[in-house]
Amino acid sequence: MKADELREMFLGFFESKGHTRISGASLIPENDPTVLFTTAGMHPLVPYLLGEPHPSGTRLCDVQKCIRTGDIEEVGDASHLTFFEMLGNWSLGDYFKEEAIAWSYEFLTSKSYLGFDPDRLSVTVFEGEEGIPLDQQSIDIWKKIGVPDSRIHPCPRSDNWWGPAGQTGPCGPDTEMFIDTDPGGPAASGAPGDSPARFFEIWNDVFMQYNKTAQGDHEPLEKSNVDTGMGVERTIAMLQGKRSVFDTELFTPVVETIADSCGKSMDESDEIARAFRVVADHVRSAVFILGDDKSVTPSNLGQGYVLRRLIRRSVRFAKNLGLPVGFSKAIARTVIENYRHVYPELERNSARIVSELAGEEEKFEATLSRGMGELEKVIARMKEHNQTVVPGRLVFRLYDTCGFPLEFTEEICREQDLEIDREGYDKAFDKHREVSKKGAEKSFKGGLADHSEATTRLHTATHLLHKGLQMVLGDHAQQRGSNITPDRLRFDFSHPQKMTDDEKRQVEEIVNRAIQDSLAVSMEVMTLEDARKLGAMALFDAKYDEQIKVYRMGDFSTEVCGGPHVENTKELGAFRIVKEEASSAGVRRIRAVLE
Ligand code: SER
Repeated sequence: MKADELREMFLGFFESKGHTRISGASLIPENDPTVLFTTAGMHPLVPYLLGEPHPSGTRLCDVQKCIRTGDIEEVGDASHLTFFEMLGNWSLGDYFKEEAIAWSYEFLTSKSYLGFDPDRLSVTVFEGEEGIPLDQQSIDIWKKIGVPDSRIHPCPRSDNWWGPAGQTGPCGPDTEMFIDTDPGGPAASGAPGDSPARFFEIWNDVFMQYNKTAQGDHEPLEKSNVDTGMGVERTIAMLQGKRSVFDTELFTPVVETIADSCGKSMDESDEIARAFRVVADHVRSAVFILGDDKSVTPSNLGQGYVLRRLIRRSVRFAKNLGLPVGFSKAIARTVIENYRHVYPELERNSARIVSELAGEEEKFEATLSRGMGELEKVIARMKEHNQTVVPGRLVFRLYDTCGFPLEFTEEICREQDLEIDREGYDKAFDKHREVSKKGAEKSFKGGLADHSEATTRLHTATHLLHKGLQMVLGDHAQQRGSNITPDRLRFDFSHPQKMTDDEKRQVEEIVNRAIQDSLAVSMEVMTLEDARKLGAMALFDAKYDEQIKVYRMGDFSTEVCGGPHVENTKELGAFRIVKEEASSAGVRRIRAVLE
């Protein structure tokens, strides 16, 4: 069975069970400050999982494009991918575990559908922990269907709990389904997740029973939901008897394009196979990100940074294959060709995809060459001073400023009988990672269209508004996102219901009073810990030990923020709320202006 058939069969199966087929969403989340990319089918559906009625009803099914880069270092094995397609069926307060598991089993094993031998199926369930019980219900249902005890594995939260993507939101236990690639093989010890090369996880049924609150409590949801995710690439690999997702038709044309360009074959060695897979995966992901109608372009922040990292990593591995400069164009065209019938946006945006990809590749090729020059200088100096261990910070500098990867540096140094101070490198790297994480988070928190005077004024007004909302509505009214242009501010905050006219008036009055009071705006750099002690409002519960900026507006407001702000609130003019509306369940949105 090919992927095209699988998608249709899945959607058709769930339609026959009363589900409505809905379109997948963009890879770039809308109004969701908690993630950079859509990482699972549930993302675009969060408001509905929290109780808002979905226009298409309570049973839905879809195919969702996903990007997950958390395991980027794992790419190169048989199953890890940074882009994948997820098939999902959804119950929005409709059916629950009984039906979800029974349908998963039917779809997997029925001869009319996937027809997997039931003996190849192993499942995991949530084993429970303090305050949340073992998911006995799921165990009972699997047993009733006929899965033997020996192939039902209770596992901890790290395996069988679907937490909210952000800090708060719908969550619950899940049950995961694995296909044994060696059914006649030796009896496996432990859970299937312990032998990922043998057991392929292909489907996950999440039972959302709880809402995790900002305080970290798990409150039962009024209505329980089901969120399932079946990986297209892994499932067809299993259906086709392949040992790797890269051996399916979703990748073989890409692998062929790479082989044609470099004259190597994927079977030459494990090293070569890994490089093939990384290049194929990363370029495919970059094509989908660039091909999204809400495309982002390579940059040093947020989504653009993830995209840049994917492209650069592909260039690095392309070098190991001896791929010529400009290699990504041909691969991108192959990906587009392979997917355009399913994702027409790739074709629509193909010119942009190819030019952005090639541009970034070329830029990085140049930095790679520069890095080579820098490294040669370092080696010469080391030799001159009879040193044999290259300091970690130098290696990191090569990586950071020249984009020169550690592996290259290591390999070249080895040829020169030089070692690398790995520990020093790791230390420098960790520090950098914290900083870029912060950069990424800031980029979707910030939402400043520019740093013009008008935008800056509205940004300062946003702090006053945030404080005013907490004074009128309570401390729960916390920032959930903001988007500020020179014309208006948009501010999302947690609050369960519509604000009354009186509340809005009070907030306006408080903000306008703070403006009339001509409060001096000051900025101080301190640790997050010190900022907390000051009672500063902070959007992210981050654990940075480095310094952060805290902006104060007189004694009225204290908030962790990157700026910029005006010097005195008197510069703001008159503040007016234009609109107060729902943004998503439990989140309200205010639009306001300064006049
Ligand atoms: N949200 C779950 C997952 O991504 C099931 O769709 O695995």
